[in-house]
Amino acid sequence: MMTNLSILYISLAGNTRSFVTDLQDYAQQQHTTNPALPTIKLTEISDATPLKDETAPFYAFVPTYLDGGNGIDNGVKELMTNSLGEYIAYGHNADLCYGVIGSGNRNFNEQYCLTAKRYAEQFNVPFIADYELRGNSRDVGRIYMLLVANAQKHA
Ligand SMILES: Cc1cc2nc3c(=O)[nH]c(=O)nc-3n(C[C@H](O)[C@H](O)[C@H](O)COP(=O)(O)O)c2cc1C
Repeated sequence: MMTNLSILYISLAGNTRSFVTDLQDYAQQQHTTNPALPTIKLTEISDATPLKDETAPFYAFVPTYLDGGNGIDNGVKELMTNSLGEYIAYGHNADLCYGVIGSGNRNFNEQYCLTAKRYAEQFNVPFIADYELRGNSRDVGRIYMLLVANAQKHA
């Protein structure tokens, strides 16, 4: 059983940071109760992060910031989150990505979580889950289970 899951994320307004920190706290509790369950290591990516080769598998958490378009046609332009996409695209990093977890706001309709869906397609990795804004405790439990189950497929 894996002892640790790694998450790379980007967060401009703090929602994603809040969610992954909740997820890390939850993982620690789960691990304390049952040591077979993994803890979580967090790495925040930003425009200032140097590109480097990852050496261990990771999940990518990405919010959505799109300008224009409607999510169906090609009119969308990704803002703010490009540095995570570039980081995953660097070297062989995409080969180590177990999947993408998206967040956004349902008010954006078809564009809801579209950046994560686009990354999943671009890097040929699973789109594992989505949640809105800072998520809630049910999202934390649900997504932790999905991360664990997905990592087990690679074990
Ligand atoms: C300018 C702007 C554009 C956005 N575009 C989308 C979008 O196209 N689809 C979506 O699901 N959410 C969209 N959102 C909502 C964000 O993805 C959401 O607030 C997210 O939680 C932000 O994460 P962060 O606080 O970690 O940066 C947008 C928010 C802003 C401010």
